[in-house]
Amino acid sequence: MRRNSRWPGFYKLSVEDRRRVAAEALGIDVDDLISALGDGGLKCDKADKIIENVVGTFSLPFALALNVQINGQDFIAPMVVEEPSVVAAASNAARMVREGGGFTAEADEPIMIAQVQLDEVVDSVRACTRIRQHVGELIELGNEAVPGLVRRGGGVRGVEPRDLGEGMVVVHFHVDCRDAMGANLVNTVAEAVSDRVEELCGGRMGLRILSNLCDRRKVRVTCRVPSHALAADGFDGADVRDGVVRASRFAERDPYRAATHNKGLMNGLDAVVLATGNDWRAVEAGAHAYAARTGQYSPLCTWRADHDDLVGTLEIPLSLGTVGGPARVHDAARLGLRVVDASSAVELAMVAASVGMASNLAALRALATDGIQRGHMALHARSVASAAGALGADVERVAHRIHAAGNVTLEAAKRVLAELSRSTTSSTSAPPPGQ
Ligand code: HMG
Repeated sequence: MRRNSRWPGFYKLSVEDRRRVAAEALGIDVDDLISALGDGGLKCDKADKIIENVVGTFSLPFALALNVQINGQDFIAPMVVEEPSVVAAASNAARMVREGGGFTAEADEPIMIAQVQLDEVVDSVRACTRIRQHVGELIELGNEAVPGLVRRGGGVRGVEPRDLGEGMVVVHFHVDCRDAMGANLVNTVAEAVSDRVEELCGGRMGLRILSNLCDRRKVRVTCRVPSHALAADGFDGADVRDGVVRASRFAERDPYRAATHNKGLMNGLDAVVLATGNDWRAVEAGAHAYAARTGQYSPLCTWRADHDDLVGTLEIPLSLGTVGGPARVHDAARLGLRVVDASSAVELAMVAASVGMASNLAALRALATDGIQRGHMALHARSVASAAGALGADVERVAHRIHAAGNVTLEAAKRVLAELSRSTTSSTSAPPPGQ
C-alpha cells in the first residue's frame, strides 16, 4: 500500500481519534495499535529480562511525525520524546520541505568497524604490512565467526591496519551488518580474529570492540525549500531563508552554537531512533565524534540560499537496525518499526536523518523569526498546566491562559487552576472560557 503522510489537522484530534485515523492510514488493526502501546509497550516481567535490578518501567510519549517525503515516497515517522514542540516542529518543517519536492536521501552500505588494538608492537610498519598481506585470510576468519550474517548477505568486507604511533597498532575490520545495528556481530568478529592479528603483528593484545564512529555507514540528506514555504506571520519567505543561512554560518564558526544546532537536529533524529528500539547512545556518540572530525566541532547540517530556495545538506554516521535489539521484546518498538515501514536498516536511517533535518530547519526558522519561545512555549504550557494538577479540558484552559499572559510557569498555572476551580464552584452552569 502506498502511503500518504499528509494528514492535515491530525494534531487537533483526540488521542482516541488519532489512533483510529492512524490505524486506518497505516493498515494496522486499531486494537493491535492500542495493545502494543499498553504499559508503554513493555510489561515489567519482560523489562526484568532486558536489564538488571529492575523495579518497574518508565513510559514516554509515542507520537507520529507527518508530512515526511523522502525520494518521492511518503513515510510516517514514529517519535518517542519528552520535549514539547519537537514533533510539531518536525511535521511543520517536513511540510515545508515537501513543497520543494521532499528530502533526497542516500546512504552507504551498513558497514560497522570492529577495532582490534595491539600495544607494545616492536615494528609497527612491519605489523601493518603483515596485516595487508593476510587480508583474505583475516576476512575468511572473521566470516567464520558470523555464519548467519554471511548467509543474509553480510560479513567482513575489508581489513585496514592503522599505526597510532608509540608501538600502538589498531586493525579495523569492516563488517557489513545488513539490517542489524551490528554491535554484537562486530564484537564477535573482533574477538574471533584477535589471536591471529596478534600473531601477525606481535605486541600485546589490547581492546577488541566496535567503534561507534561508524563513518563507513553514513547517511546524506539534502532538501530544497522554496522561500515562499518559509514565510511566517510578518516575515517574508526570502528574509526567513536568509536568516536560516545566517544561523547556519554562525554554527559553522562557533562550536558553542554548533552544539545547540546539533541538539536541535538530534531532537527529531533521536526520537525516531528511540521509537524503533535503537541505541541512541551509540547514535549520539557517532554523531558528535563525526561533528568534531576536523578538530573543530561543527554543525552536521548546513543551510545555504540557492536562487529563491533554501538548500539543506546533512551528513551523519548512523548505525540503526530493523532486526534484533529491544524490538524483539518491546511491543511499542516493534510497532514503531511497523509504522515507519522501512524496507531496510539503511532506509530507516534515511528516515531518522530526514526527521533530524526537519527538526533543525524548524528550530532555525523559529529562531530566525519570532524566536523559539512562541511556538515552543505554547506547547510547553500544556505540560506545565498538567504538572500544576490540571486534568481533562482544564489542561488546555490553563495552558491557553498562562501562554496568553506570557507567564508559562508552574506558579502561574497553579494560580489559574485555583481561579478556574473557584469559578466552577461558584457557577457550575457557566460555560468554560474559549468554548
Ligand atoms: P505554526 O506555524 O503555528 O503551525 O507552528 P501551523 O498551525 O501553521 O501548522 C503547520 C504544521 O505544523 C501542521 O500542519 C502540523 O503538521 C504541524 P497541518 O497538520 O495543519 O497540515 N503542527 C503541529 N503538529 C502537532 N501538534 C501541534 C502542531 N502545530 C502545528 N500542536 C510550531 C507551530 C510549534 C510547529 C512552530 O512554531 C515551530 O516549528 N516551532 C519550532 C519549535 C521547535 O523547534 N521546537 C524544538 C524544541 S526547541 C530546542 O530544543 C532546540 C533548539 O535549542 C535548537 C536550536 O537552537 O537550533 C531551539
